[in-house]
Amino acid sequence: MTKSCDQTSSDFPGTSGADSSVSCLLTSAEATAELARHLATQLNPGDCLLLEGPIGAGKTHFARSLIQSLMVHPEDVPSPTFTLVQTYNVPRGELWHADLYRLSALEEIEELGLFEAFDDAICLIEWPDRLAELTPPHALHLELSLDPAEEDCRHLTLTWSDAKWQNRMNEIANVTA
Ligand SMILES: Nc1ncnc2c1ncn2[C@@H]1O[C@H](COP(=O)(O)OP(=O)(O)O)[C@@H](O)[C@H]1O
Ligand SMILES: [Mg+2]
Repeated sequence: MTKSCDQTSSDFPGTSGADSSVSCLLTSAEATAELARHLATQLNPGDCLLLEGPIGAGKTHFARSLIQSLMVHPEDVPSPTFTLVQTYNVPRGELWHADLYRLSALEEIEELGLFEAFDDAICLIEWPDRLAELTPPHALHLELSLDPAEEDCRHLTLTWSDAKWQNRMNEIANVTA
């Protein structure tokens, strides 16, 4: 189960530029999947999740759990490590899952059509640091980190500045508290 969720005090609603955040301890892979499935219920086209953290942190596990929960008939969700992008059609709309680890140039992002997807699709982006100044400002940042002592434990911090995430994150804080 998830536990110990802390929300930072914030100046919301309405202030732009001020970051707010929620932190969670995810004590198993299933706890991470559960949170991903919950977040999935709140997503609409135009929402972008930036999945940060080192190799093995659980970015793909989180994305896979989220995507499969939105599918009518859950199917395999391969890691886009080599394809860079995998796209899905789910009842909520189009969904893009990208892994930018192997991105060689920023122009590739444009060639992939990722900018249009930021507006029109639900986007889940692994290694979003590759976007540099092209990072969408309205995105929700999810930073996963490993626990030095507990193999199946992950620390997750969700950070946002766009007011659209505030109510949704209040709810996340409630379900994980
Ligand atoms: N609490 C946890 N949250 C996410 N993944 C976990 C957790 N505990 C163990 N794991 C395992 O860690 C691995 C994470 O791999 P992956 O999602 O591919 O990482 P990344 O995409 O960040 O490189 C998976 O095998 C997953 O089952
Ligand atoms: Mg991955």
